Amino acid sequence: MRSEIEAYLKEIQATKIEEFKNKAEEVELFRIKYLGKKGAISALFDQFKTLPGDQKKETGALLNQLKNAAIAKLEEFKSFVEENATAKADADLSLPADFSSVGGRHVLSVVMNEIIDIFGRLGFTVAESGEIEDDWHLFSALNFPPDHPARDMQDTFFVEKDNGSSDVALRTHTSSVQVRVMEHSTPPIRIIAPGRVFRNEAISARAHCIFHQVEALYVDKKVTFADLKQTLLYFAKEMFGEETQIRLRPSYFPFTEPSAEMDISCNICHGEGCNICKGTGWLEILGCGMVDPNVLDACGIDSKKFSGFALGMGVERMAMLKYQIRDLRLYFENDIRFLQQFSNIV
Ligand code: DAH
Repeated sequence: MRSEIEAYLKEIQATKIEEFKNKAEEVELFRIKYLGKKGAISALFDQFKTLPGDQKKETGALLNQLKNAAIAKLEEFKSFVEENATAKADADLSLPADFSSVGGRHVLSVVMNEIIDIFGRLGFTVAESGEIEDDWHLFSALNFPPDHPARDMQDTFFVEKDNGSSDVALRTHTSSVQVRVMEHSTPPIRIIAPGRVFRNEAISARAHCIFHQVEALYVDKKVTFADLKQTLLYFAKEMFGEETQIRLRPSYFPFTEPSAEMDISCNICHGEGCNICKGTGWLEILGCGMVDPNVLDACGIDSKKFSGFALGMGVERMAMLKYQIRDLRLYFENDIRFLQQFSNIV
């Protein structure tokens, strides 16, 4: 029994509170282990009772020594824990907080939100639909002729069905959202559709197979080209500054008639000619036009009663022009040095 007591004594003396991880909890465990009702010392006292009388004196003294050592150690531990707790409570609460850095928005989100905001002020609300679309919503309802190049494998990622046929594709433009909205609503319709689009392009500084577009659509009675022009001018000035001018060039899109492309005055050289505007003083910004009556009819809207305008723009291009970003690949590389430049823009 003596050797057992001595071993415990050594063990207790060697126990150091600094080694406890969860201090208060481990001090209590220490108490239970040695001084608890069913603890080691209590068990030794039970054993002590059975000792022959001649051994009791010496062993009793040693056992008391062990008990006192355990109590002293426990007191020492307890005051350590208490002191630490008060030290914590005494912490200087007026110290400035430790500012952990918060993330910033991706520049594409910033620009997309800004576009949504500007159109929101004109009463446009956000509409969304899926990134996987069928031929009808991507092309047919939008008046694409059957042999239009956009339907070609070279431009479009088709999703093959189990039976090998493929009239389902990753959407090549957000104009498909127009169709989905018109099919399910009656004018007046005023929506803006931001989203991701996919095209089968080799990745370079000027092209990518994934990018983002924002589409806008307004359908009502007596919507005219003048409404479109005014909307475009408002958008351009809000987005690129009050001094911005716009110009419209005739163009062709299957889903609009007449169609146009809009340029803005170059906000980098202010019309003098630079390498961004290729010396012209103008920057190409978006496609637009009056919704082709065929499209309205295909979507169940009476083209004799209603008219509308639509426009579509690339978000990457907007961001490039606004922040003079030269390479499309930067948007997707997640290089923190690039992203951080925009982290303070909300
Ligand atoms: N969908 C066209 C594209 O991806 C962009 C576009 C042009 C949308 C003219 C329109 C529009 O709504 O009227 O290139």
